[in-house]
Amino acid sequence: MSVAVRSIGAAIDRVEGREKVTGEAKYAYEHSPPGFVYATALQSTIAKGEVVGVDAEAALAVPGVLGVLWHEDAPRLHEVSDAELEILQSPRVAYRGQIVGAVIAERYEAARQAERLVRIEYSEHPHDVLLRADHPGFYEPEKVNPSYPGRTEEGDFDQAFATAEVTIDRTYETPAEHNNPMEPHASVAVWREDGITVYDSTQGASSVQDIVAKAFGLERERVRVLSAHVGGGFGSKGTPRPHVILAVMASQAVRRPVKLAVTRQQMFDFTGYRTPTIQRVRLGCDRQGRLSATAHAVYEQSSTIREFAEQTATPTRMMYSGENRRTSHHLTRLDVPTPSWMRAPGETPGMYALESAVDELAIAAGIDPVELRLRNEPEVDPETGHRWSSRSLVACLREGAERFGWIPRHGASRGPRNGHWLTGTGVASSVYPARRRPSEARARLEPDGGYVIEIAAADIGTGARTALTQIAADALEVSPGEVRVDLGDSGYPTAPLAGGSMGTASWGSAVVKACRELRATLARGDTPGLPVEAHVDTGAEVQGDEALARYAFGAQFVEVHVNADTGEVHVPRAVGVFAAGRIVNAKTARSQFIGGMTMGIGMALHEESLLDLRFGDYANHDLATYHVPSCADIEELEVAWIDEHDPHVNPIGAKGIGEIGIVGTAAAVANAVHHATGIRFRALPITPARVVGRVSR
Ligand code: MOS
Repeated sequence: MSVAVRSIGAAIDRVEGREKVTGEAKYAYEHSPPGFVYATALQSTIAKGEVVGVDAEAALAVPGVLGVLWHEDAPRLHEVSDAELEILQSPRVAYRGQIVGAVIAERYEAARQAERLVRIEYSEHPHDVLLRADHPGFYEPEKVNPSYPGRTEEGDFDQAFATAEVTIDRTYETPAEHNNPMEPHASVAVWREDGITVYDSTQGASSVQDIVAKAFGLERERVRVLSAHVGGGFGSKGTPRPHVILAVMASQAVRRPVKLAVTRQQMFDFTGYRTPTIQRVRLGCDRQGRLSATAHAVYEQSSTIREFAEQTATPTRMMYSGENRRTSHHLTRLDVPTPSWMRAPGETPGMYALESAVDELAIAAGIDPVELRLRNEPEVDPETGHRWSSRSLVACLREGAERFGWIPRHGASRGPRNGHWLTGTGVASSVYPARRRPSEARARLEPDGGYVIEIAAADIGTGARTALTQIAADALEVSPGEVRVDLGDSGYPTAPLAGGSMGTASWGSAVVKACRELRATLARGDTPGLPVEAHVDTGAEVQGDEALARYAFGAQFVEVHVNADTGEVHVPRAVGVFAAGRIVNAKTARSQFIGGMTMGIGMALHEESLLDLRFGDYANHDLATYHVPSCADIEELEVAWIDEHDPHVNPIGAKGIGEIGIVGTAAAVANAVHHATGIRFRALPITPARVVGRVSR
């Protein structure tokens, strides 16, 4: 075995980079099994009611059309745990845009033409789709995602708030937001008598395998899901979406391989979205800025199909010190698609509200907002009393202030003006849990002397394949060039999805274990010859972890320019400093952080799914009308990190970096807009339409 330079931490290029830029890397829809045909999804045009009849005659007459599916003739599903996936099983329509049928055709154009000829008759009921503070349907969910209590109470908030020297009581609103990865969802399904193969654009091949197997009543081993390359997900591909079930059903119906592409427009209907929120935050502190009272009440929505309770107030439970704290979540069930995962679900909207409120409190108390945060640094997790595995928020704030050139300010102040441009600066903290899930992995030494790692992990564009190559190389004490990581195939050892910023921690721990076991086997020298392999499962050790509070932290500093005449807000520069344990790849990590911050700027200034109340659906259904940041929106982003050595998170010491970059960004921008204009925008996004007319020079 060669002696290697340590590769964890190095800024190495993506191992599949060349394949991707040359177009060799195949994404789900680019797989064309022999004899394939196309399926397209038919969507409900009502928001609530039932399908009472389908007239497919004209559609079936289109040359090349093989069939039309709807609930009366679609294959029956076996066991479906997520009711969102239970498509074409009943006449019920729970939201506009829900899948109510499919057209299957030899050519895509024929399918699209036939779609328009299918006549669906509905019985329509009045719908209720608007989240509003006075909605009569609010109830408190017992649990919020993934399994936190919905409500917490510590000390006596009411008493503490009533007697605090400085208080604020504010309500913030965030809109529904839709994930828009570069690659829309797509599935290519191959139904055979002995099993199913699906090429899928997913964050987790193992979970798609599991769900498809159950839905179609097959043994897990008879379903294979392949997803070698995935063009982003952000959570929208975290749990299987209904189209994958539809693709398999269509293949089953016509006994041909079926390609099904979700259109960009359809992504606004059935691939999930971030719930809108209404959040009331009350904070009380003394004249020195020490928090004594904290309350965060969140109002958000789910569908009538199932309960999805976003964990929006959870960061408020652990961010800052203070003895008296109340957090609660309130849900109402509307005639809408079920909300789902979007980058840092919970923390992203929750920290927008909390970090805006902390800024408002700092101004009310006449204390610099960086200083106020430093004064409320808790010794232990204030909610659980657990020690921190490591917590470097203070270091992030200090380092960020230094890099940004933060000028401390006390009380209300305004940034400088330059003609019609008002300038301002803002700060906010970031946080994200450092969790880990059980995973399997296999390591093998090949006869040619190369090492191969196999794991059903997903690289959704994050650099996971590269990070795992580095982790394996170090564990094997070889150079990364001697290791190949094969992932994106449910046939490999079972792995959790790329989600919750847990990929590297979960898969990497299994990879380290498999590599160590392989080395031990090789060292014993009692194997007959190559190949030699080790297959491991980290399950039990993940459960056995000590009770510690494990989180990554960060601090973001933002400058804005606000045009007093047009209401445009620009972000000429932002600095993010993060403490996320060990950074495995300096290059791909930087991309994750700036990607998160970019999405956070989009949340602050652009992203908003607008409801059409009449139809009960989102009116902006594409990238022309739903704006995500483009190159012109993002100027200078500086990213740095604090070196942390945390042996308590996992054998790699990495805390996960996929999501923390978006957390706090929107508050930093809104705080900077306040500094520039003197106006506090408590509803996102801060669009020109909202700003213009309210700002004077
Ligand atoms: Mo992420 S929202 O955990 O895929």
